Amino acid sequence: MSHTRAILFALTLTLLSWAACPARAAGAGAAQRPWLDSSLSPDRRADLALQAMTREEKLSLVFGYFGSVMPNKQYTPPPQARPGSAGFVPGIARLGLPPQWLTDAGLGVATQRASLYAFRERTALPSGLATSATWNSGLAQRAGAMIAAEARASGFNVLLGPGLDLVREVRGGRSFEYAGEDPLLAGTIAGAQIRGIQSQHVVAVMKHYALNDQETGRDILSANIPEAQARESDLLAFELAVEQGNPGAVMCSYNRLNGVYACESRWLLGRVLKGDWGYRGYVMSDWGAVHSTVDSALAGLDQESAYSFDHEPYFGAALAAAVASGAVPAARLDDMARRILRSMFAAGLADHRDAGAPAGIDFAADTRVAQADEEEGIVLLKNAGGILPLPRTAEGLLVIGGHADRGVLSGGGSSTVYPVGGNAVPGLMPGWPGPEIYLPSAPLGAIMGQIPRANIRYLDGKDIAAAAREAARAERVIVFATQWAAESRDVALHLDGDQDKLISAVAAANPRTVVVLESNGPVLMPWLANVAAVLEAWYPGSGGGPAIARVLFGDVDPSGRLPVTFPASLGQLPHPELPGSGIPAGRPFNVDYTAGAAVGYKWLQKRGLKPLFPFGYGLSYTRFRYTALRTHVSHEQLIVSLTVTNIGSESGAAVPQVYVGPAAGGWEAPRRLGGWSKVTLPPEGTATLSIRIDPRLLAVFDTAHDRWQRQGGTYDVWVGDSAATFELAAKVQLPAWSHAARWPSPARIAR
Ligand code: BGC
Repeated sequence: MSHTRAILFALTLTLLSWAACPARAAGAGAAQRPWLDSSLSPDRRADLALQAMTREEKLSLVFGYFGSVMPNKQYTPPPQARPGSAGFVPGIARLGLPPQWLTDAGLGVATQRASLYAFRERTALPSGLATSATWNSGLAQRAGAMIAAEARASGFNVLLGPGLDLVREVRGGRSFEYAGEDPLLAGTIAGAQIRGIQSQHVVAVMKHYALNDQETGRDILSANIPEAQARESDLLAFELAVEQGNPGAVMCSYNRLNGVYACESRWLLGRVLKGDWGYRGYVMSDWGAVHSTVDSALAGLDQESAYSFDHEPYFGAALAAAVASGAVPAARLDDMARRILRSMFAAGLADHRDAGAPAGIDFAADTRVAQADEEEGIVLLKNAGGILPLPRTAEGLLVIGGHADRGVLSGGGSSTVYPVGGNAVPGLMPGWPGPEIYLPSAPLGAIMGQIPRANIRYLDGKDIAAAAREAARAERVIVFATQWAAESRDVALHLDGDQDKLISAVAAANPRTVVVLESNGPVLMPWLANVAAVLEAWYPGSGGGPAIARVLFGDVDPSGRLPVTFPASLGQLPHPELPGSGIPAGRPFNVDYTAGAAVGYKWLQKRGLKPLFPFGYGLSYTRFRYTALRTHVSHEQLIVSLTVTNIGSESGAAVPQVYVGPAAGGWEAPRRLGGWSKVTLPPEGTATLSIRIDPRLLAVFDTAHDRWQRQGGTYDVWVGDSAATFELAAKVQLPAWSHAARWPSPARIAR
């Protein structure tokens, strides 16, 4: 019997005894098993459990299995894995420690290899970009709690999200899973999602660490960037999310960073994450991202995921041998197991054992959460002549394209959530990374519900000439346009197929044309000048149809603001040609991030380029005025206050943004987002807001001294509605300041 088979056999026995004796597993006296005493700290519990464990048991914790069959590899998962799941790590019944049951992802509960299993129908959140576009961390936390509760009710206790790789490459095929281009916004929103997920006794997995910013060649490319600039951009997003969310696990990514695979990078895992950030959870690998035993273990990888994705089971027999020979110290194996145990105890996996007994899910309530997220995440990009909100007195409306009669689009790959009610447009792109799924939340039906007596017609838009003819006769037209994106491949910066032609033809026939975009992220809009209005709806999620209709008709004031810059051309991107295009699969290549920390709006501003729509931008149905900008410095930290007044005639939510920059220059770009607030106000309503600027956003990272350093001197403070439009400005003198990279103190993280 091979070693792997032996492990499988042993764990099958262990698990069978686990399943047969739940009372024994759960209950047997805390006196014999003091680590099951939930009044003790996670650290203490982890230490106690570790002391009771054999080496084999420790090894079993650091080696995960894929949760679904892989016919091409003749792989069958352990019997206790949830069918069609992403992963499984055996429990230790003898000690009352439950298995880890893993599922994707950040947008809802997914099913793996759905063609081979009865898939789970679950609630899908809108895109990660939509959640970021809300600039509302309370909502992000609720969204995280909703999907984690569904995960738990589906038998899972580890959720493989959220993802927060910065959108450095706007054509990145997974932009829709992520949280945007700015480290402060992405880290804050992801931190809130993590808090929500872990409130449901589910371990959140922050991913993909780090700089997995494009899909093309993701498992072989080397993302090259100076360390300081990585710390000021992509890594800062992760750092803030760790501080604010304290995720139980971090997933290291496929790519190499400055030549070294992320899952064996001592710098990334050991020095930065566990050293400087004082991270106490565990690092697990992405599916197939491990390339070594000793290097990975010594660098800081704590758990190899999803046997048999990697070329070899590096943390199976090979790790046992490395520990036996001393190549990997036994203390390091203890550290790996302790970290996993600590996160399991911290999230409450051993105290809340219900994962495994599929429970009822209130889909109506969960869809309302997804809908609320989308309603605040939709961004109104253009509204000429106040065509929106649409009047309820409208007598006729022509709706065209985007399968709006049946549903709303979602992204593909491992994060795909199979919707309740099934795919509204089956048969599109059935194989990986498909299927391309439309969630059955049709905008057309929701629009009809808004104006039930109007004459509403729908055309699929395939016949462009016919659509233009009908448009010429219509009172108003709404065109739904889509761009499908999916894990494992990148996208072009435009809409799929002939949709640009369709929109141009319709807009030429009828200037009262409104475009609703369901896209991965930014797209070019060659027709922009000729349409009256544009809404960016991202991938709208399970409540997408009503959310779009409610914004179109003004039940909801659009309060989404762009978490990514929409460039005006490919030429504005740091890499006009996508790195790796044309390079044969499997051949290593470099992606040189010469933009450094100047990601998104920072890159454009540094180069004096005007985007199509700037970061932070989004219109409302009302208007706000910002006044009374004040700055003061308290404990060396900058605090900015301002007053917001709703000077329009509708209720609405303002998102005043504070940008900061040194008057003398010297940063990666003229300014950075320093903070924001979101406040809902009735007409004439007013609020005074106080916004603290994180000191790291006023500093640069000094690798020579391993410190954040702020030069003393004059700094500019701007307040506005985007990274490019400011209503208020002030200057402030700040003293020099510096702080060790180790931030904040580990004691603050260890809660
Ligand atoms: C993806 C991860 C995902 C994992 C499990 C990988 O291909 O990159 O994001 O969690 O698969 O499905």
